[in-house]
Amino acid sequence: MRSEMEQDILKVLVTEEELKARITELGEELYTRFAGRTPLFLSVLKGSFVFMADLVRACQLKSDVEFIAVSSYENATASSGRVKITHDLQQDITGRDVIIVEDILDSGNTLVFLKQYLMTRGAASITIVTLLDKPSRRTKAITADLAGFVVPNEFVVGYGLDYCQQYRNIPYIGVLKPEVYSA
Ligand code: PRP
Repeated sequence: MRSEMEQDILKVLVTEEELKARITELGEELYTRFAGRTPLFLSVLKGSFVFMADLVRACQLKSDVEFIAVSSYENATASSGRVKITHDLQQDITGRDVIIVEDILDSGNTLVFLKQYLMTRGAASITIVTLLDKPSRRTKAITADLAGFVVPNEFVVGYGLDYCQQYRNIPYIGVLKPEVYSA
């Protein structure tokens, strides 16, 4: 039976099986790239928490995890791209190979800001891994080093991604019915 939440989903964009298979590949790719090193997986909250949990288990490297939360300034226009840190790093990252784990790369504002910030905090290298890439929305010159899936410009939720803080616990990537967000 479909849950009440799932009745708001127009269609499934990426199934649970497709997510699992692709994340296994991403984990293996990172394992090869970082062989012999001890990277720091940095989850950008909140959206990436589900992906993060699966990705670190798909990549059996000696590594540790860290979390950062950022948000766009509420009174900023979408194009200004101003980002603020709402939960900062809890450790020194000087000299570390940092793997940024994102759920979606959209305008690029968040990752342009984060990359710059992590450099100022002394990271030795920065690798961007995003589950979803929406290149049609990009306004900043930034690309991911690894992307799980390229998605069209549709309102996607699930597997960590929200609409008004909900739908993060749907286990696949779905497209929200327009009447849900235009109501
Ligand atoms: C989403 C997503 C990225 C960012 C991408 O976060 O998790 O961090 O937007 O968009 P951009 O490329 O246009 O900067 P959001 O602000 O929705 O917060 P959340 O992760 O807490 O859901």
